[in-house]
Amino acid sequence: MSFNIADSVSWVGKVDWELRKFHGEEYTTQRGTSYNAYLVRDEKTVLIDTVWEPYGEEFVANLEKNIDLQKIDYVVANHGEIDHSGALSALMCRIPDKPIYCTANGVKSLKGQYHQDWNFQPVKTGDRLNLGSRELIFIEAPMLHWPDSMFCYLTSDKILFSNDAFGQHLASELHYNDLVDQAELYQEAIKYYANILTPFSVLVDKKIKELLALNLPVEMICPSHGVIWRKDPLQIVEQYLKWANAWQENQTTILYDTMWNGTRRMAESLAEGIRTADPLTTIKLYNVARSDKTEVITEVFRSKAVLVGSPTINRGILSSVAAVLEEIRGLFFKNKKAMAFGAYGWSGESVKQISQKLGDAGFTVVNDGLRLTWYPDSQGIKECMEFGRAFAEQLK
Ligand code: FEO
Repeated sequence: MSFNIADSVSWVGKVDWELRKFHGEEYTTQRGTSYNAYLVRDEKTVLIDTVWEPYGEEFVANLEKNIDLQKIDYVVANHGEIDHSGALSALMCRIPDKPIYCTANGVKSLKGQYHQDWNFQPVKTGDRLNLGSRELIFIEAPMLHWPDSMFCYLTSDKILFSNDAFGQHLASELHYNDLVDQAELYQEAIKYYANILTPFSVLVDKKIKELLALNLPVEMICPSHGVIWRKDPLQIVEQYLKWANAWQENQTTILYDTMWNGTRRMAESLAEGIRTADPLTTIKLYNVARSDKTEVITEVFRSKAVLVGSPTINRGILSSVAAVLEEIRGLFFKNKKAMAFGAYGWSGESVKQISQKLGDAGFTVVNDGLRLTWYPDSQGIKECMEFGRAFAEQLK
C-alpha cells in the first residue's frame, strides 16, 4: 500500500492493526500503530525511514511496486530503533552501496543492532542534502526519543519528518489528523508523550523552541507513528510545549492494590474526602494489579497529585505497586504532590516505603501518609475522609 501526501512525496510504510504491545510487553497499543516511511522523488530519490523488522520483506516488496529499488539514491534513518530501521536488512541486501544518512549516534545504533558495514553518512543539524529542486535539511533531536534521533525538513513541500516526536500509536486507514476521531487522536498522542517522552521534557522544550526559531514554514508534520498532522500542523507542537512544562490538569489519581479490601476501602474513602473539599476535581482510582499500566501512567501524567496505597506484605509492598512506582521513578514527573496510604495487620512498613519511593521519584510528599490496621471501621473511614479533605486543601 502507498499513497501520495504531496506531488513528489509518498507514504510507503505499514499500518499494523494487530499490535497490542510495544517495547516488548511494556506499552499497550489497543489501537494498533503504524510505521511510517516516506519516499521523496526529485532529480534524486530518497527513502525516509523503514518499518519494524517483521514487516521488512513486505515493506521491500511494496516499495518495489512504487519504484525500481536501484533508483533510490539515498536512505535516511532518522532513528535507529528497530520499529523504524528493522527493514534495513531486507532493503540493503538489494541496494548495499546506497548511502544511509543518520546521526553519528545513529551509526552506533545501526551498527550495534545489524552488524553491517553499510555506507553510513553521518549528518549534523543544518546539513543539507540536495535532491534537485528541493533540499532535505537535517535537525538532530537527541532523546526524542533516543540519543540518535533526528528530524528532517523538506523544502518546497514544507514537510517536517519528525520520526517519533508528535507520533501516536494509532492505526488508521484515514492517515491524516483531520480525518480521524479527535478524542482518540488526543488520547493516543498524550499517552505517547506521557509514557515515552516525559523523562526528556526539558530537551523536548529546548528542541521545539530551537525548531520554532528556525522559522521554517511547516505545511505538514509527518511522524513515524500514527497519522500525519496536515490540518493546523503546529497544534501538536504547541501541545508538546505545554506537556513538556510540568503539565497537570485538575485531576487527582489514586493508585493502589489490595489483599483483603482494606486498602481499597481506604482508597475509596480518601476519594470521598477529596471530593468534599474540591467537588470539581477529577478523581480516578486504579487498582494497579488490574489496570493497564500504560493508561495508568497517562493518568498520572495528567494529574496534579497522586495517592499511592498498598497493604504491607513481607515487610514491604505488593509487587504490582512496586512495579508502577518503578515506572514512575524513571519518568521524572515534575510539580506533582503525593501521599501514601495502606492497611496492615502486623508490622505495617508499606506506607513509609511508598512515601520514600514517591519522594525519590521527585514528588512532593505532603505528609507522612495514612496507615490503618486491618479493615477500616467507621472511625478509620472518617480518618481517611479527613486525610483526603486535608490533602485536597493542600492542592488549592
Ligand atoms: Fe518509534 Fe523510538 O521508536
